[in-house]
Amino acid sequence: MPSEWWRDAVVYEIYIRSYADSDGDGVGDLEGIRTHLDHLVDLGVDALWVTPFYPSPMADHGYDVADYTDVEPTFGDLAAFDRLLAAAHDRGLRVIVDLVPNHTSSEHAWFKEAVADPSSAMRERYLFRDGRDGGALPPNNWTSVFGGPAWSRDEASGQWYLHLFDSGQPDLDWRNPDVHEAWRGILRFWLDRGADGFRIDVAHGLYKSALLADEETVARPGGPGSNVGRPQVWDQPEVTDVFRDWRRITDSYDGDRMMVGEVFILDVDRVKRYVGDDRLHQAFNFTVFRTPWGAAALRATIETALDAFDPPTWVLSNHDLTRHVTRYGGGDLGRRRGLAVTAALLALPGSPYLYQGEELGLEESDVPPERRTDPTWFRTGGKVPGRDGCRTPIPWTAAGPGHGFTTGHPWLPFGADAATCAVDTTPAVLTAYRSMLSVRRSLRGSLGNRVTWLDTADDVLAFEREGGLVCVLNTAAEDVDVMAAGDILLATAQGASASGGVVTVPSASTVWLRRR
Ligand code: NOJ
Repeated sequence: MPSEWWRDAVVYEIYIRSYADSDGDGVGDLEGIRTHLDHLVDLGVDALWVTPFYPSPMADHGYDVADYTDVEPTFGDLAAFDRLLAAAHDRGLRVIVDLVPNHTSSEHAWFKEAVADPSSAMRERYLFRDGRDGGALPPNNWTSVFGGPAWSRDEASGQWYLHLFDSGQPDLDWRNPDVHEAWRGILRFWLDRGADGFRIDVAHGLYKSALLADEETVARPGGPGSNVGRPQVWDQPEVTDVFRDWRRITDSYDGDRMMVGEVFILDVDRVKRYVGDDRLHQAFNFTVFRTPWGAAALRATIETALDAFDPPTWVLSNHDLTRHVTRYGGGDLGRRRGLAVTAALLALPGSPYLYQGEELGLEESDVPPERRTDPTWFRTGGKVPGRDGCRTPIPWTAAGPGHGFTTGHPWLPFGADAATCAVDTTPAVLTAYRSMLSVRRSLRGSLGNRVTWLDTADDVLAFEREGGLVCVLNTAAEDVDVMAAGDILLATAQGASASGGVVTVPSASTVWLRRR
């Protein structure tokens, strides 16, 4: 693999609970991933990011970590991780491990000691504070991203502890040097085991404003509970120093290890401060998933990202977001649009992050209330449906009841499209993803990062990437003809053609041309 492989890597996110279950308990596991790696090879991705597989009471399905250097028995053990890593490396796939440094589980030994002995040094690793009104009210008015207050009372001491997410996820105090030292050890543990990189959860949240004062209660972009637009809570000036420190650690290992931050801020000028040769290698660019269907909006988003990052990442879906087929209107139309946008992103410089199941064209699943499991659902009393609908298991076979995912009872029900989108039916979307990734691979090395926009009708997005790849996305309801000379390399819908310097692009589809 070339050095700085991550710069144009296609990374596939595995939400471990829902990828493949090897032991029939209804929950996916490391061995299930290992035995389904060939799907990723056939798809043509470069790396997999596996969501947390640490011991966890599962208040937030693994994003509440009770021990950062071990494996949850439901998911396997350290030997299973080693086997997965070796098998992935044998196939030329890199493996990215998910780190959760903003908070631990309330079952982590540090927190348990902090509660059991308020005078212990562990107490200082968290944000315990006296409440207001003689302790009856939380120390400030902060709310949890999952809904409800961001503070819970420790009944034994009467103090309150901060949790930006669930009460089972107490926030660490990154102003304490012990926390930094402990985390250096955690990084080294996984780097020594051979991990190729880290995805860093809530990377923009590690520090909170020192005063922990009340927030102004103004409407937040993204709605109540949103991750964005909270100047006291996110993106404090000190936070990037953590990643400078971590970069010295990853750079001290051979093998081109990398870090990608979940920096959930929509202002790319702020996000880009997290990325660079002396800090994170990449940050998720969440602007695309928020961009509505339409050429002008997509172009503006893409241009902004290309200006800010060298080069950007592209995120259309993940385990926290409504599946993009559904966001784009659902059904065949949603699938068509989803494919069209994905093809445009795959033609651009940078690193696309794919989410398991999007290559099958899966829609958001309608999970009935009695099967919902997401803390967001519970903490908002069902007002926010939560993220279960994008996390339902992967259907490997059209035949049920376990669809090749499990021999037992799946932890979440399958979506209504499980039979029609199953891997063994080779849905049209899967064929399209395989083609896109294979053509992209064949062009690797021959393309540069410069992008030139082509003048076209308003509903069309068209650009030429340095090296002669022309990409035309038609967001109109009708087919369009665009002046562009070249041979068609790929089309996401039937009916595309090119002749005499004119390419016909069907409605809601993308065409790639190689300039002659
Ligand atoms: C972001 C993760 O992607 C999400 O699933 C999780 O609930 C929060 N961080 C808290 O860890």
